[in-house]
Amino acid sequence: MKFFIDTANLNDIREAQDLGILDGVTTNPSLMAKEGITGKNSVMQHYKAICDIVDGDVSAEVIATTFNEMIAEGEELAEIDDKIVVKVPMIKEGIKAINYFTEKGIKTNCTLIFSAGQALLAAKAGATYVSPFIGRLDDISVDGVALIEQIALIYRNYGYGTQILAASVRHPMHIIQCAEVGADVMTGPLSVINALFSHPLTDIGLAKFLADHKKAATK
Ligand code: E4P
Repeated sequence: MKFFIDTANLNDIREAQDLGILDGVTTNPSLMAKEGITGKNSVMQHYKAICDIVDGDVSAEVIATTFNEMIAEGEELAEIDDKIVVKVPMIKEGIKAINYFTEKGIKTNCTLIFSAGQALLAAKAGATYVSPFIGRLDDISVDGVALIEQIALIYRNYGYGTQILAASVRHPMHIIQCAEVGADVMTGPLSVINALFSHPLTDIGLAKFLADHKKAATK
């Protein structure tokens, strides 16, 4: 399972990269705004800075919502670095744009996926990644992990190459459950990735090992 970090914060990206288990980054306009990144030049420079840190794909989302504008914006984003994946919203114009980018050999991530039908359309258009937002589904009492399982079954049935990128991951159990049902990738904040490390028995066990070692050394 690939691990992506879902942030535009360079310190968090560096910290995750340093762990040696990071496979990529996802961003969205809200995450860029949270870091105060506005204006075309700053946005482009920030994506480049992210690409320079991480070994792997970096999703950069288009703001445009019409086919021609998405193409123009996506092509500019793709020129920043080979790691850039053009993130496109699940709307009709977006599916047309994904078809176009696929033919041009530009990687895509179809975002804002909330149903299996939407995931099917994205795969048919040749999207590199499809991003079901599992946390936002859970927020409205719909089982987000069940959607991942459903999409995985459909993709297996037809041999689609689109990778399932579980997004809107809110806690470590989301990661485990997505791994169980066959998500190819998960993207979550650093706090959720870090939460995977924790187990009280690990802490207790390590403290005991170190104490026993110290006791023996002082005998
Ligand atoms: C996915 O690519 C999105 O950036 C993200 O996972 C959305 O997560 P949120 O629902 O926590 O905003």
